[in-house]
Amino acid sequence: MTQTPPAKVTVGDKVIDLPILKGTLGPDVIDIRKLYAQSDAFTYDPGFTSTASCESKITFIDGDQGVLLHRGYPIDQLASQSSFLETCYLLLHGELPTAAEYETFENTITRHTMLHAQFDRFFDGFRRDAHPMAVMTGAVGALSAFYHDSLDIHDAQQREISAHRLIAKMPTIAARAFKYSVGQPFVHPKNNLSYAENFLRMCFAVPAEDYVVDPALVRAMDRIFILHADHEQNASTSTVRLAGSSGANPFACIAAGIACLWGPSHGGANEEALNMLREIGTPEKIPEFIAGVKDRRYKLMGFGHRVYKNYDPRAKVMQTSAYEVLAATGRENDPLFQVAKELEAVALKDEFFIERKLFPNVDFYSGITLSAMGFPTTMFTVLFALARTVGWIAQWKEMIEDPGQKIGRPRQLYTGATQRDFVPLSQRG
Ligand code: CMC
Repeated sequence: MTQTPPAKVTVGDKVIDLPILKGTLGPDVIDIRKLYAQSDAFTYDPGFTSTASCESKITFIDGDQGVLLHRGYPIDQLASQSSFLETCYLLLHGELPTAAEYETFENTITRHTMLHAQFDRFFDGFRRDAHPMAVMTGAVGALSAFYHDSLDIHDAQQREISAHRLIAKMPTIAARAFKYSVGQPFVHPKNNLSYAENFLRMCFAVPAEDYVVDPALVRAMDRIFILHADHEQNASTSTVRLAGSSGANPFACIAAGIACLWGPSHGGANEEALNMLREIGTPEKIPEFIAGVKDRRYKLMGFGHRVYKNYDPRAKVMQTSAYEVLAATGRENDPLFQVAKELEAVALKDEFFIERKLFPNVDFYSGITLSAMGFPTTMFTVLFALARTVGWIAQWKEMIEDPGQKIGRPRQLYTGATQRDFVPLSQRG
């Protein structure tokens, strides 16, 4: 990080010098840390539209150009040439692994996929019709009640063990959340399978028959995990960092991230996007739907992004995956895919969307892809959470390892009542 001449801010009769920080990529950042002490003024930025909350070396996004880099590597290169576990290693450690490092990492993750036998009793506590994200929020938080030996956040080795446990056990928990909701017995992990294949097997195998998965679907699943692995300081990652800034244990922090991800403006959008396509149903209904969006009766789910004001690079890869999965499952003529493609084409030519720089995001095509793979809509955000766990834990580790780390504590613009005297109930009429 380098510095240039400071920015000057006038507050009342004071002129304050604020350092300008330069990262390796991205806009300059005005360092306002001393502003309050020197001017008695706060800054106001609801939704953090102009505020960097931390320094990070993990992920870079250029929203105007549609660029997404993990540790410097473009997402399309990772999606086409890497594997999810290799991307996990990269996010956690900052560099691609050597062959020996990869082998050790893969071995470690593969050998930590099992859950404590008593953990399975948690699932029975939920109603069968519980949303799997409700199950995920509870179950992942409960990991902190099982793995006391890796809760000391000040011990680097324990932080590492927790990271491995989370990445390894998330597919097992997610698959159990699915199996529980459909009333099928849990399928245990198998160490000779890849991360994605193991997950698909735990979701779709049944004891009554052998399970053989199409390699095209394994590849698609792995790529979907890569596409969701990290996305710098989004709402759920910031939630994980904020929860972790108080010293909370990593399992509790990731549970907080899952809760945040669930919302329809964030990870819940993939479920909403597919529901939307189903409601539209046929290409003829698109004009009517678009008119409803313009009248603010609905949002075009899977479109728009706080950071991308261009095509989300993940959406491009996801669209390719959708083609591949639909071909592999014999659903090339899936009517919802036709609706999605037509809807995208109409929106990209419409002034309303052009003016607001609204483009498809990763969630626009992910629902169609996951649905073709056999997942119900309620599982979509669960898969997002599974994949994002590595990003959350890498960001959490980076924060804990930052010597300048402080508890997160935003300020506010108070617009409530000024001080007044309490009136006893008997005198309030
Ligand atoms: N459909 C219709 N209008 C939209 C949409 C949309 N999907 N997104 C934004 N707009 C309009 C919005 O109404 C506003 O218009 P106006 O200026 O006339 O009031 C303008 O575009 C700017 O939108 P904004 O709400 O200020 O933008 P934001 O940065 O606060 O919101 C967003 C970003 C992702 C929450 C929003 O685009 C959205 O709700 N999209 C649909 C949900 C979705 O697909 N979310 C997944 C995001 S990608 C996955 C992830 O990382 O979580």
